[in-house]
Parts: sequence; C-alpha cells; structure tokens
Amino acid sequence: IIANWLKVVLLDTTTVLGELDWKTYPVNGWDAITEMDEQNRPIHTFQVCHVMEPNQNNWLRSGWIRRQAAQRVYVELRFTLRDCNSIPWVSGTCKETFNLFYLLSDEPLPASTRFRPTDYAKVDTIAADESFTQTDLGDRVLRLNTEVREVGPITRKGFYLAFQDVGACIALVSVKVFYKRCPSTLRNLAAFPDTVPHMDSSSLVEVRGACVENAEERDTPKLYCGADGDWLVPLGRCICSIGHEETDGHCQACKPGFFKAFAGNTKCSKCPPHSSSHDQAATVCHCDKSFYRALKDPSTMACTRPPSAPRNLVSLINDTALFLQWMPPRDSGGRKDLAYNVLCQRCDTSDSGVTQCEPCEPDLRFIPKAVGLTGTSVAILEYAVHANYTFHVEAVNEVSGLGLAARSLANVTVNTHQAGPALVGVVRKDWASENSIALSWEQVEQPPADIVDYEVKYYEREQEQLSYSSTRTRTPSVVVTGLRPSTVYVFHVRTRTTAGVTAYSPNFEFSTAAEDPDVADQGQVLVVVTASVGDFSKQLHTFLTDLYFLLFFPVPFSGIKTYVDPDTYEDPTQAVEEFAKEIDPSYICIERVIGAGEFGEVCSGRLRLPGRMDIPVAIKTLKGGYSEQQRRDFLREASIMGQFNCTNIIRLEGVVTNSKFDQWLVYSVSFIVMFLILFSGRPVMIVVEYMENGALDSFLRTRDGQFTVLQLVGMLRGIAVGMTYLSDMGYVHRDLAARNILVDKSLVCKVSDFGMSRVLEEDTEAAYTATGGKIPIRWTAPEAIAYGKFSTASDVWSYGIVMWEVMSYGERPYWEMSNQDVILSIEEGYRLPAPMGCPVTLHQLMLHCWQKDAGQRPCFTDVLSFLDKLIISPGSLLTLATDTQSDSPDELPDYPLFISIGDWLDSIKMSQYKNNFLAAGYTTLDSISTMSTDDIRRIGICLIGHQRRIISSIQSLRLQLHHIQQNGFQV
Ligand code: ADE
Repeated sequence: IIANWLKVVLLDTTTVLGELDWKTYPVNGWDAITEMDEQNRPIHTFQVCHVMEPNQNNWLRSGWIRRQAAQRVYVELRFTLRDCNSIPWVSGTCKETFNLFYLLSDEPLPASTRFRPTDYAKVDTIAADESFTQTDLGDRVLRLNTEVREVGPITRKGFYLAFQDVGACIALVSVKVFYKRCPSTLRNLAAFPDTVPHMDSSSLVEVRGACVENAEERDTPKLYCGADGDWLVPLGRCICSIGHEETDGHCQACKPGFFKAFAGNTKCSKCPPHSSSHDQAATVCHCDKSFYRALKDPSTMACTRPPSAPRNLVSLINDTALFLQWMPPRDSGGRKDLAYNVLCQRCDTSDSGVTQCEPCEPDLRFIPKAVGLTGTSVAILEYAVHANYTFHVEAVNEVSGLGLAARSLANVTVNTHQAGPALVGVVRKDWASENSIALSWEQVEQPPADIVDYEVKYYEREQEQLSYSSTRTRTPSVVVTGLRPSTVYVFHVRTRTTAGVTAYSPNFEFSTAAEDPDVADQGQVLVVVTASVGDFSKQLHTFLTDLYFLLFFPVPFSGIKTYVDPDTYEDPTQAVEEFAKEIDPSYICIERVIGAGEFGEVCSGRLRLPGRMDIPVAIKTLKGGYSEQQRRDFLREASIMGQFNCTNIIRLEGVVTNSKFDQWLVYSVSFIVMFLILFSGRPVMIVVEYMENGALDSFLRTRDGQFTVLQLVGMLRGIAVGMTYLSDMGYVHRDLAARNILVDKSLVCKVSDFGMSRVLEEDTEAAYTATGGKIPIRWTAPEAIAYGKFSTASDVWSYGIVMWEVMSYGERPYWEMSNQDVILSIEEGYRLPAPMGCPVTLHQLMLHCWQKDAGQRPCFTDVLSFLDKLIISPGSLLTLATDTQSDSPDELPDYPLFISIGDWLDSIKMSQYKNNFLAAGYTTLDSISTMSTDDIRRIGICLIGHQRRIISSIQSLRLQLHHIQQNGFQV
C-alpha cells in the first residue's frame, strides 16, 4: 500500500470568513455564536443546552455542500459535551449524545422549503469521548472531542448535514467535510494522476500510468486506487530510454563523457578507452582519431586499432618447401582477433634495372592457408624455380582497413636459388626391360655454374604425381630400376649445379617391357634398329657405366651420392683437388679476425670472383710454420665439406693451397691480418660462406628467451635437414653440438666443423676416454663412449642434445655434473628433463633420440618429418612439458624418464624379466611406479632377492622422480 491519501476539503467552518447561514429548527434551539480570534477571523460555534426541559428536538442544518468529485465524504466534528452528572437537577431530561443526519440534493433547496426531519437520513449518534465538568470549567480546561463519520454514497450533486439535539449541552466548535483522493504520484518511472476512489469501498479504481519524459514502457504501468485514497498493487514499469539514466524518479540525460546504449534502469557509463562523447544524452561514444570499432564490437568495448606489423619475419627454404615464420606484432591494437595474411609477389628486374612485380602464380600452395592465419608460420609449396618472391605478411584484426592507416606489413624476399632452365635436351630411352629403363640426355646449354649431378624424378603415369621417386646420377644417363612391367612412367630431369638446382625438363613418358619373356623389349629393339653406329657406341658406354655403378656402388641408384673418406686417398692433396675449388688468393679480401682455432685464425672478408657479385666469406687460415701433416689435417675438412651441397651445411667456396704472398691483393686489412699474412709464408686457407650470427650456442645465450618456439623449431629443422643429408651421404659427424652449428642472418642453421679427428683435437669439450679416444662426453651416445661405436644413430643422440641446447637457449647439458657422473647417470637410465618452456612433443622427441638401444632411435628422416608435422600444426607445440608435470609428488610425470621398461630392467640387471612386465601390460614407467611386491609376484617373479631388487628400484625411482621434479636433474 502506498499511503498518503489526498484530502479534498468541501467545507471547513473554521475557515469560512463570512456568515455561515446555517438554519436552526426551532429557531431557539441551537444557537449560532460567532466570535473573533486574535487575527480577527470569525470563530463559528453552535451551542445548545436545554438540559432542564424534557422532549427536546433541536435541529441545526448546514448549507448546501457541493460534492465535487466525491463519491463518499467524511465529516469531522469537533465539539464539547457537558457531563449530565455535573449539572444539578437535570436527571431525566439531560442527554449526552446528539445525532448526525444528511440529505442528498442536486441543488440548494429553495429558502421557502419547509424543514422536514423525515427527509434526512441518519448517519450516526455521536457521543463524546471526553465530557467536561464544572471543575474542568473552573480550571478552564477545554476538553474537545473529535469524531469522524463516513457519509455516502453521494449520488447527487450535493448534500446537507443536519445535527439533532435531544437535550444535551453541546458546543459544536467546527465541522469539516472532506473526501479522499489517491494523490498524483510517480511510481516506477510512470506518472499517475490523482484519482477519486470508487464509491463502493470494496472495489478499486485501476489507473494506467504514463511514462515520465525520456522513459519508455516495458510492462504497462498500473496502480489501483483504494477507497481510503491509498494506491495499491503497483504493476508494470517504465525504463529510461537510451542516453538517459534514472535520477530521483526521472530520466536525466547522460552527461558529456558518458553514454547509455540501451534502454533500462542502469546508469550512464563512462566512455570506454579511446572514445568520447561531447553532447548530453549520448547513446554511443565516438572513437578517437585512428581508433575504430568493428561491426560486432559492443559499444561498451574500448575502441581499438589495427595491429602493428609482424616482427622478425624470416624464411627457410629447402628443395620442396619454403617456410615463413614471424613473431606477433608489438602492438595488437588492443584486440584479441589477430590474424595474418600472406601476400605474394614475384619481382623481376629487367636488363635496364627496372624491377617489375606481379602477383604470384595461383598454383602456389600455402599450408595451412594464406589468408586468416592464426599461427605465426606458413609453409609454401609448388613455388617456381629460380624466382624472386617477395612475401608480405600482414597482421590484421577486425578493424584493419577501417581507416586510412597504412597496412601492417612485414616483407621478406626469397630467391628460390634455382639455377635457371633445365639445360637438359631431349631425354631418350636407351633400352627398357621389365623392371628397368635406361635413359640418357644431353646438356643443351652451358650451365651457369659447375654441374654437381642430375636429378631424375619419375612416377607411374596412371598414379599421376601422387608419389614420385627420384634418383641422381653424375653422368647424363641413368638406369632406373625397380619399376613395374608394362607400365608407363613419366620422367623429368634437372641439373644440380654448385649454384643450385635448375628447373625440371619437360615430361618424357616411357614404358617398361611386358612380363612375358617371349615378348621382345620394344625399346631395346628400337634403339638397336634406329641407332647410328656412333650413337650405339655412346649408348653402350652409358650402359656399361651404369652397370659398373650398379654393381659396385649400389647407393647412387637409390638416388643419393655417397661420401668419400679423404683418408682413402693415397695422397690427401688429391682429395682436396677433387672436391675443393682452388681460389686465386687475389680474389680474397680479408677484413677482420673473428676467432682463433688450433690451426690458426678465422677471419671474415669478401670473395670477389670476376664477373660475380662479392660474397661475404669466413676464411680459416693455417698458421705459418706448419708441418706437412698439419697442412693435410687442415685441408681434410675442405675435402669433406666440398662433397656436400645442402642449404643446411656450411658451403665451401674453395681453398687456397698453392699461393705465394706476392699474389695477394689486399684491399683493407687490419694490422693483425697484415701480420698474419706477412708471416704465413705460403698461406693455406679454407674459404666458406660467412654466417653472420656465428656459433649457435653463443648466439642463443645472447638472445635468451627472444625467439618463439616455432623459430627455435625452425632452427632445429634446418639442422635436421643438414643431418639428413649427411646421413644419406653416409657421413657420420661425431661432434654434432650447438657450438658446431653456424647461424646466418636469416636464422638459417648450418652444420659445420667436419673432419672428426682434427675437430675433436680442437673441441674443448672433447675428453679422453678409457680407450684413449677424445670424445665430447655430454653430446655422445653411450655406445660411442663405451666402445667407439659411432654411427648415424650416435649422431641422432647428439642431435637430441642439440635440441635440448636450443630449447634451453644454450644451457650446458647436464649443467655442472662431472663427465663421469654424466656417464653413470645415463647408464642408470636418467635423461635430461625438458627445458623450461619446452613443448612436451619436443622433449619426447629428445627422449626418443636418447634411447639406449641405438636401433630404437629415430633416423634423421623421421626427426625431420616429425618436426615438419609440428611446424605445420603449431598447436602441437602449445602443451609445455612443465604443464604436464604433476603438482603432487606422488604422481609421475606423463613422459617416461627411462625410455622403456626394458632400459630400466637392463639398468638394474634384471633384463630376464622384460617379457613378464610386457605380458602383464606394464609398458610405461607410470604403470610400474605403483607396483607392490604382490604385483611383482603376480607377474611371475618368484625369487625373493629379485623381487627385493625390483621393488627397491621402483621406490628409489619414485623418490628420484620427486627430487627431479623439485630440483631439476642435479640429483
Ligand atoms: N666462425 C667460424 N666459421 C664461421 C663462419 N663461416 N661464419 C662466421 N663465423 C664463423
């Protein structure tokens, strides 16, 4: 109930200034007395006191009272009434009540109308609450009674009141007539007018409210006006419109700097960051200059801007794929919807030096996609050979392109390093058998650089290019074996030169012979029939050469060149001559000393070959006064390096072996370099490509934490490409470590330091083993340390350590543990834990490389394809090894520290039980860590001594795992 009814007065005798003109019947019954108060206002009083005489019937009648809107009225009487007991001798005639009557009429009765008491309806008999006595009078204390009576319903336009005295002593001091209204009110932002209650006191008047200014209806606002003038049952409501807020029951406009975007009874909000409102009643704040709101952005969101450009965009390239990687922009523009678009252009410079760019060919494939990338890398396939591509990586968000701001681009230019057109003429089929086809071709044009070999790619025509094989050959002919009979193959050939690969020749299709031995080999017959004598002898020569290779060098037919150990040459100088180009020293310009090795200084400088651009080079020098043996050892590295041609292996530019000082043309040399040259007599040098960022270990140490995981994986991938190449060539590196990896300006990592024996002499990490060899213990597989068994698998172990070095930004493997402790720990099955921030997948790959059994380790091709998968789905790098380690010391981490149950049993000399564990389903360390003695017994280990050894190892394993989790590897 909302109280506070409104009183509308129809008559108040205390405020009537003039005569009241009330009638009395009989005239000497009631007495009208008018006195003046202090302010000279009349006080109208009606008195009667005929208490001594019996049968009194004195009437006092009011004037006609207009009812106005009233349906029922209230009459408030103020009077005094004398107590009959206080008057002597009046018993029997004195009364202490009087009666109230009323008469309805639409207009005042004519003055001539006779007063007829029976016309009046009785309202009530009025008695006093208080009466007054003589004593009271003496004390001059006036005891006033107030009585209120309801009169109605009032069905005419007005009415009269009448007071009947039947013998009391009364002074009627005031008469007030009023009715009640429900007052006008504001409720729930709706205004309700004042309302007259219904004449029937039991029913309510329904009133609809009107919304206040700047408010709007939600549910129809309603109130009910009760008979007593009280509002009841508020229903529905209004709410402030947009741009307005409720203050004291009204809707006020939002102040400048504030806004309200939705109707509702919430307050105006302050403009979000980078926006403002200058007028009142703002429904939205407008973005400041250079800031925007995307279509989907709520008005409560801060205005944002396009991101800045991606950072550190780098490219990596191999024979088949090009990778771009970058780091997120420094400024995301204040948004979370950052994405990247990769745009590609091919730019060619004409002879007149004008560079023209056009969009790249549509068949370039971007993996996962070119537009809307959320990761920070992309792989690009099917790119053209020997082309200059410019890739623009654009960082975008939902507000990119809304303003006039420049696009946020990072650019990188990639030359696909291919040495031009195929240079191969028609490819001929010399002969074919059921499973082989012999091909030959001619070099139609002079290649831009020395030919290394030819690569022949082939696939079954029916299979299209779903999968293909390739083989390499040093001569312009090949016998391709392992083919299916009666099958058409598509062949194309490209030339590999020292400057890169050429484009492929057009496709040539040839068929193998049918399986039936009676069916003549069509190709061979054709060759014999159509070949001229000269052609025939050439083909015979080709055939014999291929046969020779087939019989004595099976590897070339698998498509890979083999490494030739320079030590197999009687005269090692011959090996240098064969594999390394002699450089005229006048083409070398030494600029500064960048390091020192056992044989002499390492300098940086430029190689200025005539007709070629200058190339930055590193020059390894052999100190003056060297012995012949030292000279051979020094050049050994060149004759190894010269055999390799891979983006991820340091490239040998050439050697200086037979020069004299007077041949030197020194452009700008420091004093030290001049000194070096003057005293070196006949300088001997190895010239290799210059790697701007030097050795990987020190490079990472100085850039701690500055790369994305994907960039680190990109580096590891490069090293894996180099190692795959070396292992395919049959070369075992033996000293693979981050210190022997060099990094160029685009973060491309290249394997360096070849020629094991010398390298290990030089390597400060290499320590003498019991067998007298010098070995870098922390990087070397246990079988190589124990009995010198170096292999590609032991290089894989070292690769795992390099992974760990890279992911820990050049941390020393096994920290400060002694070499002896490292050997023992490895023997007991411990492995390096994941470096901080290392994805669990990478640590698992490391653990895989560190399997005790060399045969169980992955080969480099496996490592490479694993890394490629990670790069292509970078989500796989999100779970960090530290995330998977449990907080509770009682739980083991998700990955095994021992690679297998087998390794563990070997380490405690219980190998005989491998099958018991495997058969019972125990395959991971996790699963054995909770085994009890009963479990051990149940899987068939009966000897008490063995049970004890196994259980105590499990317990110590649990403790050690706990310790490792708390303190790292240094147990
Ligand atoms: N240090 C050793 N070899 C190097 C090379 N090729 N480039 C830069 N620094 C080197």
